[in-house]
Amino acid sequence: MTAAATDPLLSLSHYYLPVYKPRQVVLERGQGARVWDSQGREFIDLAAGIAVCGLGHNDPDLTAALIEQAGKLWHTSNVFYSEPPLRLAEELVTASRFAERVFLCNSGAEANEVAIKLVRKWASSLGRPAHQRVIVTFRGSFHGRTLAAVTATAQPKYQEGYEPLPGGFRYVDFNDEVQLETAMAAGDVAAVMLEPIQGEGGVMPAKPGFLQRVRELCDQHNALVVLDEIQAGMGRTGMLFAHWQDNIKPDIVTLAKALGGGFPIGAMLAGPKVAEVMQFGAHGTTFGGNPLAAAVARVALRKLSSPEIAHNVSRQSQALRDGLGKINDEFKVFSQVRGRGLMLGAVLDKDFAGQAGPILDHAAEHGLLTLQAGPDVLRFVPSLNITDEEVAEGLKRLRAAVQSFIASR
Ligand SMILES: Cc1ncc(COP(=O)(O)O)c(C=O)c1O
Repeated sequence: MTAAATDPLLSLSHYYLPVYKPRQVVLERGQGARVWDSQGREFIDLAAGIAVCGLGHNDPDLTAALIEQAGKLWHTSNVFYSEPPLRLAEELVTASRFAERVFLCNSGAEANEVAIKLVRKWASSLGRPAHQRVIVTFRGSFHGRTLAAVTATAQPKYQEGYEPLPGGFRYVDFNDEVQLETAMAAGDVAAVMLEPIQGEGGVMPAKPGFLQRVRELCDQHNALVVLDEIQAGMGRTGMLFAHWQDNIKPDIVTLAKALGGGFPIGAMLAGPKVAEVMQFGAHGTTFGGNPLAAAVARVALRKLSSPEIAHNVSRQSQALRDGLGKINDEFKVFSQVRGRGLMLGAVLDKDFAGQAGPILDHAAEHGLLTLQAGPDVLRFVPSLNITDEEVAEGLKRLRAAVQSFIASR
C-alpha cells in the first residue's frame, strides 16, 4: 500500500495492545464477499472474518433479525429468560442430532473452556481422582487463547511465557492412531479433544476413519469425544457439522465463528452422557446467550442449514480447487490443495516455503483478502454463499498476485 493511500485513523492503532498485526487498511463496509476500505478500494474477501461471515457481509436477513431484536430487548443476563436464546438452544439441539443441552457463550475459546470444565466435572462425578482426568489433544491444534484453551492448543508458540499452564493435558500427533492408543493405555484419559479439520494448524483434515478410531478408543477407555467445530462447523464443509461425514456421535461439540454470522456468540453442545453433569452454579457468564446474539444466530443457523448453502459450498469448493489448480499449472507454486468444502488450504511448494505472508501482501495489493495458516499455507474460508462471479474474480486477482510476487523475487 502506498503511503498516500493510508487512512490517518491508522495512527490510532498504537493504542491497541500490539498483539495483532493487521493489514494497513481500514475496512468500512461490505456486501456479499466484497469489502471496501476507507479509501474506497474494493477487495474480494476470501477470509470472511476468519470463517465467521458464513453468509457474507450485510446479509439482509441477519441485519433484519438484529434490528428487530434491538428494538425489543438487548440484554437480560442469565438470571432471566428471553425468547431468542431459548429458541436457539432448542434449534441447536435439534440440528445437532446428538446433543440434549446447550451452553451459550460469547466466543470459541469460551466454548472450549466450558467443554474442558465439563470433561473434568464428568470425570469427577465418576469418582476419578484429578490425575485421571487427562485430556488428550493433537499437535497443530488450535482451541483458543484462554489459559485452558491455549493449553489444549498443542502448539508451543501459543503457550510460551504463559506458564505455569493448567495440568492434565497430553499431546499426540494428529492422525496418529498408534500414538493415541499409547497415550490412552494407562486408563487415565477423560477425553480426546480435536478439530475435524485443523484450521490454524494448516488446514489439515482428519484422515478417513480417524474420528471413528477416536470414538472406538474413547468407548473402550470410558472417555469423552470432544469435537471443536468452531471453524469447520456451521456448513463450512458442505454439511452443517463437519463430523457428519465421519458418521460418529460425539459427546461434546463446540461452535462459535459462523454461528453468529459476525455477531459474537459461542455454544457448547452436550450429549446424553454429560448433559446433566453441570448443575446450578457450576458455570456461568453474563453475556452468553445475549438476546441480540441469539436472534442473529437463529437466522444464521437456519440459513446455513439449508440445502442451497450445501450445494453452493460444493460448487464453489470445486471452482476454487479448479482455479487454484490452473494457477499452479502456470506458476508451480503449490504442492497440494487440501481441506473440505470452503475450508481449503493451498500448501506452498518448497521453493515458496515460508512465503505465505508476502504472497498475501501481493494479494491485498491486487484487491484480494485471504488468510494464511502458518507460513506455508494460504487459507481460503470465504462466505458460504459466495457467488460464481466473486470466486472467479478472487481467483483472477490471486493469479495476478502470484505473478507479481514471483516477479518481485
Ligand atoms: C478451531 C478453533 N477453535 C477455537 C478457536 C477460538 O475461537 P475464538 O477466537 O472465538 O476464541 C478458533 C479460532 O480461530 C478456532 O479456529
